Amino acid sequence: MTIARRDFLKVVGGASFAGSLTGVALPAISAGASVPDFGFSDDSVPMNAANLCPVPLNVSAAEARYARELDLDLSPATRSRIEALKEDARTRIAALLGASADELAIVRNTSEANNVIVQGMPLEAGDEIVLWDQNHPSNSVAWDVRAARSGCTVRRFSVPIETGSIQEVVDLFLDSVSDRTKVLSFTHISNITGFRTPVAEICAAIRRKKDDIHIHVDGAQTWGAVAFDLGKVDCDSFSGSAHKWFMGPREVGLLFVRERHIGRIWPIVVSVPWGADANAAPKGARKFDALGQRDDASIASLGDAAALHEALTPAGVERQSSEVAARLRVGLLDLGLPFVSSVNPQFTSSVIILKAARDNAGRLVTDVLKDSGIITAAVGGFRMSPHIYNNADHVDRVIAAAGRSRALFG
Ligand SMILES: Cc1ncc(COP(=O)(O)O)c(C=O)c1O
Repeated sequence: MTIARRDFLKVVGGASFAGSLTGVALPAISAGASVPDFGFSDDSVPMNAANLCPVPLNVSAAEARYARELDLDLSPATRSRIEALKEDARTRIAALLGASADELAIVRNTSEANNVIVQGMPLEAGDEIVLWDQNHPSNSVAWDVRAARSGCTVRRFSVPIETGSIQEVVDLFLDSVSDRTKVLSFTHISNITGFRTPVAEICAAIRRKKDDIHIHVDGAQTWGAVAFDLGKVDCDSFSGSAHKWFMGPREVGLLFVRERHIGRIWPIVVSVPWGADANAAPKGARKFDALGQRDDASIASLGDAAALHEALTPAGVERQSSEVAARLRVGLLDLGLPFVSSVNPQFTSSVIILKAARDNAGRLVTDVLKDSGIITAAVGGFRMSPHIYNNADHVDRVIAAAGRSRALFG
């Protein structure tokens, strides 16, 4: 698919422009707030936030410092001081997401968070689970396994990339649920197309149609990428990984469960700090993160990562990342490369994917890295997911390299 001229103009229209690479002037990236030092080299620049982000140097230094403090002194006093940082991080992350600390579990990653909902939901034979067909395996195959165990049914539905309006998307979600639906689970921003669903509108419409459906939103491409207010999005649970757009420690994730559901969802692991019997669960959603001994230093550094988002604000991070993505989108469109991702501004995100057959996508990742020094991914095609640590030079280099490899697209 090549992009029609009217779509191209829709994307570039209204933007302010600077610089020129391919004939069209590319949207400028404003200076924005200062971004911390990440330390990666100029010939190995990450543009794969949808998979794994680098951690700012001050955050990795904090993590190393906490680990060293523990190694030098494992006394109860040091351990409780470091563990207290976990509660501090929980409170600050909850505030950034418009939730309460008691509704947040600090788990290991989005996969685990999704699986708490998949495995822990009270479901019976005959109950229906409805899934967007762009869900990640941890929110898709995991439900098939659960259904096989419990006799539930799984139904999937699609949203064509060319869907034109928010209402059309909402209608597709509404049509997907039935009287038997007990769970609707979908990804806010797809990792395989970059499609950004109108999550608030979808949740509100589903509630009006049938208010006892548990709505789970996979926020792996959301948390740390875009402003997301759980006070305004009426979902029942939400998941994310700190090592993606949040630019936090690796193997740390979150699960939000709205207060009224915490009691009825079963934990999938029960260990310390759970108490002596079944009724002695840790407070609130902490019952989902009672996983025994954790990497306390890594979890403690979540608070240091949160400081970056507090300083820039989630809306500020979203603005900066979106500007970088906008420049990239316009440059790629101007080259006439075939898009998997929507170019309708209502559904775009900082995850941009071009069409490429599987083998070619892998080769593109290698060739583009060699040619431009930019690290991309072969997911859903040829995927670029720039974040606030990327600049106009990175964007222009990856556009030029994609152009030079144009024969591999399509
Ligand atoms: C939408 C989505 N959900 C879940 C995951 C799993 O994330 P993790 O590997 O951090 O558990 C990913 C990973 O890319 C993802 O894109």
